[in-house]
Amino acid sequence: MINVTEPEYELLKQFIETHCGIVLEQGKEYLIETRLSELAREVGATSFQDFHYKAKTDQSGHLRDRIIDAMTTNETSWFRDASAWEYLQKKAIPALIDRMVKGEKVRIWSAASSTGQEAYSLSMLFYEMLSQRGVLNVHSRLDILGTDISSSAITNARSGKYDGIAIQRGLPQDKKQRFFVQDANHWIIKPEIKKSVSFKEFNLQNSFMGLGQFDLILCRYVTIYFSELFKKELFSKFSNALKRPKDVLLLGATESLRGFSNDFDIEYYNNAMINLKK
Ligand SMILES: C[S@@+](CC[C@H](N)C(=O)[O-])C[C@H]1O[C@@H](n2cnc3c(N)ncnc32)[C@H](O)[C@@H]1O
Repeated sequence: MINVTEPEYELLKQFIETHCGIVLEQGKEYLIETRLSELAREVGATSFQDFHYKAKTDQSGHLRDRIIDAMTTNETSWFRDASAWEYLQKKAIPALIDRMVKGEKVRIWSAASSTGQEAYSLSMLFYEMLSQRGVLNVHSRLDILGTDISSSAITNARSGKYDGIAIQRGLPQDKKQRFFVQDANHWIIKPEIKKSVSFKEFNLQNSFMGLGQFDLILCRYVTIYFSELFKKELFSKFSNALKRPKDVLLLGATESLRGFSNDFDIEYYNNAMINLKK
């Protein structure tokens, strides 16, 4: 492993915040050493100063993307947080199905989707609830977009293929049997669930113009890594990306927009904080 000095840590910390918004706190030097040493060696860097220089001057942006990929935490699971999913099942999704039945297209954004579990969890729930209401004929009006800055996470998400460990994490047995097919050691999501979902690489620091408007946005367990300034900008952009008043932005259970945005009214559903566009 290559040791990182204090000045090198500052350089890389700044580089990472500039390119993905993630703020490394003091005392996280080990993250640089454990996650970037191998890549530094691979590109022929003898120190982290040398590595930073190579990254800064790499015109292709390829090394920058690999650094971001290595530094992002892609931790996720199916139906993460019971309260949030109960809210979606009991409140948000029935209201969105009403819109679909009236003839509207419903667009949902899983922002920072990681390897796709959140987007596919939504798709499974919609499929079940549309079936229960006897309105599967409106299924084609559903469009779920998953985006993430990590290209490897998006590649995994697009494949819809999960190994034995990933498939276990939060996925109820009945949904696994109903919505996946087994292929040796992997589980592959069925086409009827996959067809409502698409994925693309996207940095939340970028403008949201071009993504269109959404009826519901989930941005979970990523704003914890961002600066106060970035959070303020982000919540403002999310508010503008929601179609109409009372449309919902759902954050992770440990995240809050209090103090960072006046664009939302806050309600609670059990432990889940529900942010409704004003
Ligand atoms: C901990 S995961 C959360 C995944 C999922 N939302 C969940 O709640 O299970 C955080 C994700 O945010 C992504 N991420 C970090 N910075 C980002 C940025 N600036 N733009 C888009 N995605 C980002 C990471 O690549 C990672 O996949």
